[in-house]
Parts: sequence; structure tokens; C-alpha cells
Amino acid sequence: MHSRILVVDDERNITFVLQAMLERAGFKTLAFNESACAIEALDRAIDEDDVHVVITDLYMPGAGGMDILDYCQRTHPEIPVVIITAYGSVEAAVLALKRGAFDFVTKPFDQAELLAVIKKADVTFQQRAKEPIILLPHSDEAGKEPQAVFITSITGKSPQMQEVIKVIGKIATSPSTILVSGESGTGKELVAYEIHRNSPRAQKPFIKINCAAIPANLIESEFFGYERGAFTGAVTSKPGRFELAHEGTLFLDEVAEMPLEMQVKLLRVLQEQEFERVGGVNTIRVDVRIVAATNKDLELEVKAGHFREDLFYRLNVVPIHLPPLRERKEDIDSLVRYFLQEFNQKLKKTVTSIEPSCFEAIRAYSWPGNIRQLENAIERMLLMGDGKTLKVQDLPDEIISAVGGVFEGVQGPEGAEGNSFKQIVRRQTQSVERELIEKALEETGGVVTRAAEKLGLSRKGLQIKMKELGLKRGD
Ligand SMILES: Nc1ncnc2c1ncn2[C@@H]1O[C@H](COP(=O)(O)OP(=O)(O)OP(=O)(O)O)[C@@H](O)[C@H]1O
Ligand SMILES: [Mg+2]
Repeated sequence: MHSRILVVDDERNITFVLQAMLERAGFKTLAFNESACAIEALDRAIDEDDVHVVITDLYMPGAGGMDILDYCQRTHPEIPVVIITAYGSVEAAVLALKRGAFDFVTKPFDQAELLAVIKKADVTFQQRAKEPIILLPHSDEAGKEPQAVFITSITGKSPQMQEVIKVIGKIATSPSTILVSGESGTGKELVAYEIHRNSPRAQKPFIKINCAAIPANLIESEFFGYERGAFTGAVTSKPGRFELAHEGTLFLDEVAEMPLEMQVKLLRVLQEQEFERVGGVNTIRVDVRIVAATNKDLELEVKAGHFREDLFYRLNVVPIHLPPLRERKEDIDSLVRYFLQEFNQKLKKTVTSIEPSCFEAIRAYSWPGNIRQLENAIERMLLMGDGKTLKVQDLPDEIISAVGGVFEGVQGPEGAEGNSFKQIVRRQTQSVERELIEKALEETGGVVTRAAEKLGLSRKGLQIKMKELGLKRGD
């Protein structure tokens, strides 16, 4: 594989000369004459796994080489940064070395010296990129109780989650009704609980009722309770969830699934804070804070006539929306760390790091089941894996095969042993392809044209694939 070198110098002829030298030596290059553009490109390129070494001039208008160095150190410490310096300004280069630069070269360049430094830097990058990424601090520190700060268990540094945490901090102490929305597994229940836990009601009950899980004919008695003899089977009287939640919080989960007749009754309780048990005559007064949750778009449900508009406005006093995990991938790092710590304790494991390619796959996956799916995946990986490092092989199959599509066609580093993520995925893809093609050929008696039809490929396309996979059979 040819490594890509990012070249930064404000003088065009310098970047030109450097590019020429490096490309002649077989490297790919990317050059910029402004450091701001270089940082921007670096940001993008790193996501695509596409810059391996940076070589930069120290003095440039605007942000200089030091800034580029600091940026790399902070965001991608595995990328070696080589400093270009003029004769006579070696002290500055030494300072850069102290700040983590890999090495420096002096202008005018000696071609052999320059290439030697870049090659050494490239080897260093390849080594660093294979080292496991440390996720957890050394185990002595890991076991300590987390400090009692506000809402410790909602993890996420994405702007969206920071905003959610801020809103919770503001509204927890008020009695307002909250509507939490978001796809399945995004943390709606967690948010509801954290609101309760941070409210003055924290010492009182947090009662949950799942509107989707209760049959329509039982929902009223679940909510409001019943008196003895209210219906066949009501041999004793029983309080409902509203009563149980008195002075505490009632969490109405999947509120969109509530039948329309029940919506009317709920609306009345929300307005008057009072109700009667089923079959009862006494009016019961309660003081309950409502947090409702839905994975549907409640406004659409209103438009479709499935949800009462007046109830919607009652519930939607403070809306909190939890975006799906694929829209806040910045949260994946901290969530993985969080769940690792949690399951290490629960399962008595000591996993503290993760292979870069495995982490890459976790970041690339779209997580349709959101945080719950990630949580389950980490738990399973800890159970399956052994040792201290999570590896690609430990990933659940659905992630390997889904992420495979993303990496397909991307050339992995050539080499015999081939254990990079891309290569593993490639091998998996090939074995699936081989199976499908063999089956199609079998079913069509080995007639390539018909097998191709079956597979939705052109005849030529299938022939190419067969050759690639080492399958031979003629028409
Ligand atoms: N930001 C977060 N930080 C840490 N853990 C989280 C976070 N969000 C969710 N979780 C965890 O993910 C799991 C799923 O969250 P939760 O049950 O609250 O989702 P939900 O939106 O109610 O899902 P559903 O719609 O399927 O009921 C829980 O174990 C929860 O603790
Ligand atoms: Mg839930």
C-alpha cells in the first residue's frame, strides 16, 4: 500500500519540490499552502483513513506548523509530524520535537535524508495504527466509585446530548410535563428516570406504565385502580399506577399506543389531578409529575387522527428529542468506554482496550437499535472475547456484514497474513459470494448465462467474479 503524506508549506515551489520527491519514491501526497486548509483537509482525510504522515513548515502566515503539530497530537496522535525548518532556526525545530514532533528536516532538502525520515515516520505510523487504543485507565483507578455529580449516567458529549443534559438540568426541579421522543433504544426511559432522580420528588416513587403492553380493556384499571367487585375477578380493591405515583413521577411509556377512549380519561386527570377508581365513587386526588415517551412522531399521529390534539399539547409542555446514535457518532467513544466499565464490573472482566480496526467498525456501523444495541453488542463482545483487547473477530456478525458494504472495494494493505478489518471483511464477502455463485451454478447445471441471470449479473460480470474467486466452469 502507498502511504499518503500531507505536505504543508506556504511556498508553492517548496510543496511542489517535496511532492515530486515523495511521489517519485512511491508515496501519495496531498499538499497545501495554507495551514487552515491543511487542518481542514486533515480532518476529512483522517476520517477516510487517508493521511499517514504530515510534513509541515514551521513559519507560515496564520496558523503555523506548531498549530498543525498540536492539532495532530490532540486529535490523531498516531500520525507522525515532520517539521521543515530553514538553516539557522533549528532551536525552533527542537522545541517542536519537545512538543511531540517526530523529526525535522532542514531546507534546502537533501533528497536521501528527507526520504529516510519520511520512511521512518511511515513505519512508525503503521506500528502505531496497530496498537490497541486504550479506553480505560489502569484498573486501580477504574474500580473507584463515580463521583456524585449531576446526571452521571447520561453519557454523551455530542452537542445534541449536551443540550439534552442542559435542558434536564433546567426542568428537573419544575413540575412541568415532559414529552421525550426518539427511536427505540435512544435512552428515553433513562432520561425520564434522570429527570425524576434530579427532581425534588427523587425520594418518592418512579412508576412506569407501558401503554403498548396493556390490553385495551385493562388499561383503565391499571391507570386508576379498581374497587372490589368492579368487575368479575375483582375480589379485592387495588390502587392504580396514578395512586402509586403520588408525590412522585409517572412515566407513560409508548404513549402513542394509548387507545382514544383512554386518552380522554388521561386528559381529565392531567387537567384536574383527580379521578375515581374503576367501580369506585370516591374522588382521589393525586400530585403526580408526568413524563411521557414515544418513538413515534406524535404530531403526525395527531394529524392522522390517532392521537388527541388537546392531549398532545398537555403532554408536550417541554419536548425533549433524543436523536438516533447514527446522528451523534461523537457519542460512540464515550458510550463504549462507559459500557466497557460497566460490563467489566458485572462480568468480572478486565478489557481495557480495543483494536483500531474494531473501533473503526463500531464507528462506521449505523446502529439501528441505537444505544441499547451498542450496549448489548459490548456485553456480548466481552463475553465472547478473552484477554484485555476487543478484536474485530469479537464483533457481532450483523456488524461485520453491514460494515463490510462500506469498506467493500477499499483496498486493504497487501500482505500475506491479512488481519486488518478490511481484509477480514473482504474474505467474508468473498466466501458469501462464492457460496451464492456455486449454488446458482448447481441449480442451472453449470450454465453460466443462466446462473448469471439468477444472480442478477451480466454473463461477463459473473465470469469476472468467478475468475476472481478462482471458480472455474465453462458453458
Ligand atoms: N446517553 C446514554 N448514556 C448511557 N447509557 C444510555 C444512554 N442512553 C441510553 N442508555 C442505555 O441504553 C439502554 C436503552 O435505553 P432506554 O431503555 O432508555 O431506551 P428507550 O428509548 O426507552 O428505548 P425503547 O423505545 O426501545 O423503549 C439502557 O440500558 C440505557 O441505560
Ligand atoms: Mg423505553
